[in-house]
Amino acid sequence: MRTHLCGVVTTEHLDSDIVFCGWVHRRRDHGGVIFVDLRDHTGLVQIVFDPDRAEIFAMAEQLRNEFVLRVTGRVRHRPEGTINPEMPTGEVEVLATDLEILNRADTPPFQLDDTDVSEENRMRYRYVDLRRDDMQQRMRKRASIIGELRRHLDEQDFVDVETPVLTRATPEGARDYLVPSRTHAGSFFALPQSPQLFKQLLMMGGMDRYYQIARCFRDEDLRADRQPEFSQLDIEMAFVTEEDIMQMTENMVRKLFANQLDIELPDPFPRMPYAEAMKRYGSDKPDLRVAMELTEMSDLMTSVDFKVFSGPANNDDGRVAALCVPGGNALTRKEIDGYTEFVGRYGAKGLAYIKCNSVNSLPDGLQSPIVKFFDQAVLEQIIQRTGAKDGDLIFFGADTESVVNDALGALRLEVAKDMKLVSEGWQPLWVVDFPMFEYDKRDKRWQAIHHPFTAPSTSDPAELKANPGSALSRAYDMVLNGTELGGGSIRIHDRELQQAALEVLGIDEQEAEEKFGFLLNALKYGAPPHGGIAFGMDRLVMLMTDTSSIRDVMAFPKTQSASCLLTSAPGNVSERQMRELALRHRKQAKPEPA
Ligand code: AMO
Ligand code: AMP
Repeated sequence: MRTHLCGVVTTEHLDSDIVFCGWVHRRRDHGGVIFVDLRDHTGLVQIVFDPDRAEIFAMAEQLRNEFVLRVTGRVRHRPEGTINPEMPTGEVEVLATDLEILNRADTPPFQLDDTDVSEENRMRYRYVDLRRDDMQQRMRKRASIIGELRRHLDEQDFVDVETPVLTRATPEGARDYLVPSRTHAGSFFALPQSPQLFKQLLMMGGMDRYYQIARCFRDEDLRADRQPEFSQLDIEMAFVTEEDIMQMTENMVRKLFANQLDIELPDPFPRMPYAEAMKRYGSDKPDLRVAMELTEMSDLMTSVDFKVFSGPANNDDGRVAALCVPGGNALTRKEIDGYTEFVGRYGAKGLAYIKCNSVNSLPDGLQSPIVKFFDQAVLEQIIQRTGAKDGDLIFFGADTESVVNDALGALRLEVAKDMKLVSEGWQPLWVVDFPMFEYDKRDKRWQAIHHPFTAPSTSDPAELKANPGSALSRAYDMVLNGTELGGGSIRIHDRELQQAALEVLGIDEQEAEEKFGFLLNALKYGAPPHGGIAFGMDRLVMLMTDTSSIRDVMAFPKTQSASCLLTSAPGNVSERQMRELALRHRKQAKPEPA
């Protein structure tokens, strides 16, 4: 239908007769001549309709935005003064000799170069939104990134294996999406939260090196970097240590950034134990582009005359920490109130602060309602430990360790964003030495920090059961600029150790048999040592295309409430389908009488 794409015509094509197909981006009528910018995925070309050709000129008069055209014409120089150096095709135009309207279009729901379109409209008319240049570029970059990763792994003898989507629940920590079975009334498939157990079974099946671009499904609260269905680059290898996997994937990511973005990531990536990350950044995925760190204050506050601080300081689960903001003295009362409300969302009950006017004259050089509670020695320590200078402001958090970490960890990023304290560039990091389990006080039971198939640093089942709280795991997360890109671990390949890990999680033998019997069984028939990792593809592409939402790099993403505005999914099903699936709607509870 066409001889050339729109965005490629230059002076090289002068006087050639060319056929284009595309959409009307814009039509302008100028003194009897009609100009149409014709658009396809490569760009725009200016078509000129001259009134001398009465028939096609009359057709051109009917053209509206987003009409689909086939245009034949001759390439010529634009007249002096109308050259557009911003456009690759800006030196030429095409004098139309023939025009075919392939399809008409209603007035589009938004103009393609309008940058202020609501997310709702973009999603509802995604097929129009996808025509926009930035969406075109991001979707193509995504394909290029995934293509390169596939080629890289193919070259290294990884085997691409597809694993089932109709499967059993695997515990990655989110709620499952369930699919009722028609042939087994009352039973349900779960959509995989990840192919975790299948990839382990593939190692037991002798596949040696596996990868898959795997679709994963998690029914969890959505955020800018989370979707209910998303894609992982899922990897598993047999006969490897954590060192092998980290080395292999680090090289892969470094090469990807070099080839795709011409960016050189550090070699090697720095590593940081989980405990250190929590202490210094209040986060297990610290953004190292921000220099500010949390400063430990717990030991300093045990005997101060301020219960808000001394309470948590004397509690094993408590923490008092500070965040020194360079130049923070300039923050207004209103801004500080805003941050107090911000940390409240993370459970903090307040946000004490000290303004540092003159750190060399204590206590008078400090301005704060809480300075009165501290003696000279404590004040000196506060200044020394935080390294505060004149003009800085020191925030304090005092609560349980987890509230302080969450609140100050988030505040660190928020303040850095507001005060432009985030440096340019790329800061990858491996976070290692995660604890194996975490105690859930509310449910009074241990929970796996990674997943229950992660190998502990000890290989002794008795020791694991005796001291679950002190066991570290052989897990690792790859973090980039504060986003968790991927996570993985060496797995348990010993049946007894696997059973012990499940026991710690309160899964008794019977339940283990019911849920994971197939895995425990497989461990009996020659399971090699193995491990792997999974990268969030959407998050990786999001970072690499410099956008802040993974919805921008998915063709048909879901909304915050996990629905699809384009297809109106999820939707109702017929009574007949319900009957076939042996399902019945629960009656809505009757409203209580007033
Ligand atoms: P994990 O649960 O850490 O590990 O997931 C791996 C990576 O997937 C991405 N990710 C998501 N991306 C978008 N939306 C979501 N809702 C979402 N949830 C996770 C993150 C994350 O780092 N089976 C293990 C991997 C392994 O042990 O090999 C797993 O799934 O980038
Ligand atoms: P109060 O004595 O309650 O007026 O608090 C004095 C200061 O301490 C105020 O700036 C509060 O915001 C702050 N504050 C209160 N509770 C906490 C807490 N848990 N962590 C940090 N600061 C707090």
